[in-house]
Amino acid sequence: MDKMTLSCIKADIGSVGGHVTPSKGLVDAVRTYLKDHAGKTLKDWDISYIGDDIALLFVHDHGENADKVHKLALDTFNHGADFARKQGLYGAGQDLDAGAFSGNVRGMGPAVAEMEFKPRKGEAFILFTGDKTDAGAYSLPLYLAFADPFHCPGLLLAKTMTEGFSFRIIDVTHTEADRVADLKAPKDLYDIAALLRDDGRYHIESIFNNKSGEIAVRTSACRGRMEKGKLKGKDDPVMLCRVQGDFPSSGEVIGPFRLGHYVSGSGRGSHTTPLMPVKQYSPITFFDGPASVSARAYSVSTAGKLTEYVDLFDHPFWETVRADLARKFIQMREQGFAGPAMLNIQELEYGGVAEKIHALQDKFHTK
Ligand code: 13P
Ligand code: MG
Ligand code: MG
Repeated sequence: MDKMTLSCIKADIGSVGGHVTPSKGLVDAVRTYLKDHAGKTLKDWDISYIGDDIALLFVHDHGENADKVHKLALDTFNHGADFARKQGLYGAGQDLDAGAFSGNVRGMGPAVAEMEFKPRKGEAFILFTGDKTDAGAYSLPLYLAFADPFHCPGLLLAKTMTEGFSFRIIDVTHTEADRVADLKAPKDLYDIAALLRDDGRYHIESIFNNKSGEIAVRTSACRGRMEKGKLKGKDDPVMLCRVQGDFPSSGEVIGPFRLGHYVSGSGRGSHTTPLMPVKQYSPITFFDGPASVSARAYSVSTAGKLTEYVDLFDHPFWETVRADLARKFIQMREQGFAGPAMLNIQELEYGGVAEKIHALQDKFHTK
């Protein structure tokens, strides 16, 4: 294959017992549909889930934003949503907005990350899927893995990486068009940090090797859309990340996830939660959280055939990390709705508090 495209398209189409996990029947229905319909469109595919979101991974040669690839994903999810409705699953079809399909599912609810490249002889990559948070959750780990030699010794040791990486950063609050800035590390390091500090607005969309120009990362970060005065569309992210050679090693990329930094998400998408690296197929339980991320590593042949996956967060090392992060989450939960435990009013996904405070203005008087 001269050019290969990886597409990951993820959606919540229904789950058991709340926003917890898809049913086994639903996952089987999605798998069977793809077996019957992937046909010649795809070179290979795989499916996985995290929390209540099902992720489709496609390998093909149709490039990014290809109609037939997005249509296949949408048809698969619609088929699954019908099954979920029959089973009585919660939130059946949650992430499938009713709007008409116009060749691309981006902006219709599902999270999409796609990258096209000339495959290397040993093409290794990681599929990250996240639940109960947004694409801003990837910013700090990516910054540390691709721009900080303290976390990524490859920046000092590998000749292929000594010129650093370029970050394409998107303003997700700009709803009219894609508003992006291209900044280069290490030259623009502090500017990159200044933008990424605001994880509700500036998200990393992609990363490129400065020397080779090769694409390293593509996240599902995209501009939001306004619905009834609220910013929608920045939810439950995915990310594709090539590793080794021109890029950090798989260990360097997953290393910063041990920090489990605080992000926004968890209960009603409205709280401050550590980002916990979890095993494949983990459900979401305590306080509809914590925000969770999983890492599924693959190799893919130049003909486009995937190997089996390796679960990078399924190792005894991560048990200690998870125990620490559970404590970190409990500490934040000790303060309920107070202070930074609940997101500020502009970021709250649910309108209830804003409406309540608006109505309460009538109760105020000046003495
Ligand atoms: P999801 O975005 O994963 O469906 O979760 C929504 C929610 O409100 C959880 O409390
Ligand atoms: Mg849900
Ligand atoms: Mg979800």
